[in-house]
Amino acid sequence: MLNKEKFGSNFKWGTTICAFQNEGWANSDNKGQSIWDAFTSDAKNIKNNDAINNASNFYKDYEKDIRIARSLNLNTFRFSLSWTRIFPDGKGEINPEGVKFYHKVIDCCIENNLEPWITLYHWDLPKKLEELGGWTTRSIINWFSEYANFCSNEYGEKVKHWIVLNEPMSFTGLGYFMGYHAPAKTGISNFLKAAHHTALCNADGARIIRKNVKNATIGTAFSCSYVKPINKSRLNEKSAQRVEAMLNRFYLEPTLGLGYPTDVMPGLNMINRCFKDGDLERLKFDFDFIGIQYYFRVVTKFSLFPPVLFASEIEPKKRTRNLNTMGLEVYPQGLSKVLQFYNQYDGIKNIIITESGVCYDDHLTNGKIYDIKRLRYHRRMLKEILKCKKKGINITGYFIWTLIDNFEWREGFEPRFGLVHNNFETQERTIKYSGLWFRKFLRI
Ligand code: GAL
Repeated sequence: MLNKEKFGSNFKWGTTICAFQNEGWANSDNKGQSIWDAFTSDAKNIKNNDAINNASNFYKDYEKDIRIARSLNLNTFRFSLSWTRIFPDGKGEINPEGVKFYHKVIDCCIENNLEPWITLYHWDLPKKLEELGGWTTRSIINWFSEYANFCSNEYGEKVKHWIVLNEPMSFTGLGYFMGYHAPAKTGISNFLKAAHHTALCNADGARIIRKNVKNATIGTAFSCSYVKPINKSRLNEKSAQRVEAMLNRFYLEPTLGLGYPTDVMPGLNMINRCFKDGDLERLKFDFDFIGIQYYFRVVTKFSLFPPVLFASEIEPKKRTRNLNTMGLEVYPQGLSKVLQFYNQYDGIKNIIITESGVCYDDHLTNGKIYDIKRLRYHRRMLKEILKCKKKGINITGYFIWTLIDNFEWREGFEPRFGLVHNNFETQERTIKYSGLWFRKFLRI
């Protein structure tokens, strides 16, 4: 039987939302443009040519949404700041209206007994900074530091929980290597530069928060997958090790003082070209927790392409029917594998699942959404967490992706992950069965 008490009285129950995916109103109140505003302005980049319009309207509806979160009996609320609401050009001049907006969001969380958790960076780099090289230029360290310094000073009195970056491997891999996400850059050279600067900002940003915010709890949120080779042949097993190094180790190990995972992938030593004196030390930071964001399993095989990685993925649809609407494998039982993997590192003190969720087609019938498959997914995730807690792994929170259906990057509005359904034309919210289940489960 699942029972809230089994997770411990200090367990953090939350949802995660994201500025770009939820707020909308990208041209209002002096907000500057981000790379995602630019990318989505070309309809061809987005599935079904969806225009983001006002996304799920969080900029106007934040009070309503925060009250809904409270009504589900959650105790934390994770959201990200939009860099260009605060610094329209990414640096220099501050926009007071943007600064004020996040004060209102934070105050509203506190009034509703939800602990505010801020993510500094959830992918929406200021366009002006991208024009100057974005993550590929070392100047980003100064720009990011200015941003981190301002935000932690401004909000640090009220907000004690900080996440520096959201999924560094996703935004550097998809945005600077594969060109699939904004800013649509490609190639190994762009990727390695962006990756190294991102890793430096991760640690520098955390140090800045530590300095500015008294009693802060600081983490960063890593994407991860359960990686498995297609069979036990040596070549395929090695392919899985390399993919695992990229997906699960790449950004974590430098923070622990272990450098990048070149042991299984010597080609990665190319990243040394981006190093300056003292960088190895500078990459380290003693995080209070690590956020892990788990969504799917990856099955790999050896392949000559791409070089360095020498691995490719077996497409989920070729091996399973258990897929979400984005064609990714739904595999909650992989969570314990991943948690056990992270538990091997001495430097990790505390793990929080800062995102997990699943998108399915939801149907409104007589004003209700009976999303039993989503509920089954989350319940299974909770069971996996309990299993790992019993083995002594220190897991202290579960944040569901996401509260309200929102704009899923390149996939537009089709994938619905929310505990709460959104009608994107009327912005009307309807709590789904999964949300109602959490409300009951978490009842005080
Ligand atoms: C995560 C990302 C979120 C959201 C989610 C669902 O990787 O951090 O912004 O898009 O995936 O796909």
